[in-house]
Amino acid sequence: MFVGLVDIRLAGVGDGEALSDFYLRNTDHLRRWEPTRSGAYHTIPVWERRLQAWQSEFLQGRSIHFLGILPGASRVIAVCSLTNIIRGPFQACNMGYGVDQHYEGRGVMKTLCGHVVAYAFDVLKLNRVMANYMPDNHRSAALLRNLDFTIEGTAKRYLLINGCWEDHVLSARINIKKD
Ligand SMILES: CC(C)(COP(=O)(O)OP(=O)(O)OC[C@H]1O[C@@H](n2cnc3c(N)ncnc32)[C@H](O)[C@@H]1OP(=O)(O)O)[C@@H](O)C(=O)NCCC(=O)NCCS
Repeated sequence: MFVGLVDIRLAGVGDGEALSDFYLRNTDHLRRWEPTRSGAYHTIPVWERRLQAWQSEFLQGRSIHFLGILPGASRVIAVCSLTNIIRGPFQACNMGYGVDQHYEGRGVMKTLCGHVVAYAFDVLKLNRVMANYMPDNHRSAALLRNLDFTIEGTAKRYLLINGCWEDHVLSARINIKKD
């Protein structure tokens, strides 16, 4: 799908090299906000195995991963995933995201995440998309505010990020069109 600032498509089993390249290019940019990764975590063979696992999860309806592609090129410049998709009475998932440092502050992430939230509500028919961020991640806070997410609280020592248990702000957007 072409939306001007960025092309959007699902991640596929052939994207190992492109995703390895995205994460290795952005190691320093992402480190502060992500779990510590082992040396091999972003190598192409490990990505190829991870993409096979993602494919299985997708077929089981448990997760879906979108890529933002530089228009006219094959380079991944942003990622946005819906994980922990739960059905039954919850009908909810978590959203995670990141943009290439060179495309930060240009609306690329908002465009991709906006598309993904619409997919969660209109295609997956979920009731709730949750996204959580560290209190000092002001760019993440602004992104979610711009996407009409609502802060629901804070959680102490919520995730092990860059080697430390970090408090997180919990936010969510509800599907107001859903019955
Ligand atoms: C958090 C993160 C994804 C936010 O990305 P971002 O690029 O700031 O988000 P947006 O796409 O909404 O861009 C917003 C900026 O683009 C500008 N912009 C330019 N053109 C725009 C357009 N057409 N539409 C919307 N915004 C546009 C906005 O004015 C805003 O600029 P500002 O930051 O100077 O106010 C990014 O900082 C990141 O990848 N951080 C590292 C990983 C991370 O923290 N992940 C999330 C963990 S919870």
